[in-house]
Amino acid sequence: MAKIKRLFNCTECGARTPKWAGQCPECESWNTLVETVPPDTRRGPVDVAPTGTVHSLAEIGIAPTVRLSTHSTELDRVLGGGLVNGAVVLLGGDPGIGKSTLLLQTLVKMSDDMNALYVSGEESAQQIALRARRLGMHSAQLGFMADNALESVVRACRETSPDLIVIDSIQTLYTELIQSAPGSVAQVRETAAQLVRLAKQTRTTVIIVGHVTKEGAIAGPRVLEHMVDTVLYFEGDRSSRFRLIRAIKNRFGAVNELGVFAMTEQGLKEVNNPSAMFVNRSMDTSPGRTVMAAQQGTRPLLVEVQALVDQSPLANPRRLTVGLDHSRLAMILAVLHRHGGLSVYDQDVFVNVVGGVRVIEPASDLAVALSVASSLYNRPWPNDLVVFGEIGLGGEVRPVQHGIDRLKEAYKLGFKRALVPKENLSKQIPKGIQAIGIVKLAEALNTEFDC
Ligand code: TYD
Ligand code: MG
Repeated sequence: MAKIKRLFNCTECGARTPKWAGQCPECESWNTLVETVPPDTRRGPVDVAPTGTVHSLAEIGIAPTVRLSTHSTELDRVLGGGLVNGAVVLLGGDPGIGKSTLLLQTLVKMSDDMNALYVSGEESAQQIALRARRLGMHSAQLGFMADNALESVVRACRETSPDLIVIDSIQTLYTELIQSAPGSVAQVRETAAQLVRLAKQTRTTVIIVGHVTKEGAIAGPRVLEHMVDTVLYFEGDRSSRFRLIRAIKNRFGAVNELGVFAMTEQGLKEVNNPSAMFVNRSMDTSPGRTVMAAQQGTRPLLVEVQALVDQSPLANPRRLTVGLDHSRLAMILAVLHRHGGLSVYDQDVFVNVVGGVRVIEPASDLAVALSVASSLYNRPWPNDLVVFGEIGLGGEVRPVQHGIDRLKEAYKLGFKRALVPKENLSKQIPKGIQAIGIVKLAEALNTEFDC
């Protein structure tokens, strides 16, 4: 057998060396040498279809994109309308969050009308079959393979030509071309590159599972994000039963799209009306909470923003956010002080979005400000009030996108009043909701509601 040549590349300066070392011999950076596949000179140039010629975009024929429905409206929405043939999807998340469960459920349903293959390097065929049976799924059509070697997976794909493959997980897969251990940056990168090539050449859809790992020897899914077409991450904490899947990157749809599932005894179930799940309407009016109409991708979602303001024993009071942009909290507190007369310099401030949802838009500013004010003054906002709006440094409340959609969602869930940026007021606002337009933060703080 021919001896496999080894080659290491520096990720900083690109220098190549045949031997690994802790420090790059060229640029002297530490821990930057990563094993790579030596270029195969016998194969000749890579056969990328006609090279060296320039075409105009109009000349290029477009193969129709086929959307494969996953038989789950939530998952289809996150993917931008279903899986696309030849696309590579990365599904990342903490271990044990439900990646294998979701994909097994999806594949069993999809295998009724297509050739699907589930490759698992983590669980045995028995374990998977047992899980499928426990979930009450009949998987007569689904192909299964317990293997870690990329070469066998590729061979199986060439023989059975599946329409869809799931690789669970990329951290257990290895290629013989590289000697590093499975899960190392070099292995993860090279195996993923070969899977991408396979997908593009055979128009097979590939879903790659990647565990999010703590810093260490195992490479996380972030090293692959640029290579794949779509990146989905499981969000939310494991102690809650909700599982949120967010699209971080999507070449075939909108980003920030959110799919909501609940983990049950029978696997993951779709949550079709998430706004109703995240907002607790039965709760008495209590200080420190507001309901915010957020926008997640193309869909409005109502969430509860809670704040607790409490006398601090520390010289540097704590500012803590869960599910919100931390740096905006300091800004909002400064605006509340300068333009609203609220001083919290000696108070701890905690802000939380209920249910493990992450709200990453400035439209949450007004909800945060009003929750903080409510907690500080110990006066609740009414139970049927919904808010949204961005706050500027001048204390002005700025308009946000999708104002009407947000208000429609709030109306659907029985909210009667809304505090919104004045510029978001329009004739299309549902008649049953009383929307109050505000220009300055101080106006919102001075609004007198009887609850
Ligand atoms: P799993 O899909 O194996 O996680 P991952 O592949 O992301 O590592 O999920 C396992 C967790 O889900 C485990 O903690 C048990 C829970 N679970 C249920 O609560 N109900 C179920 O029906 C199944 C299959 C799993
Ligand atoms: Mg798993």
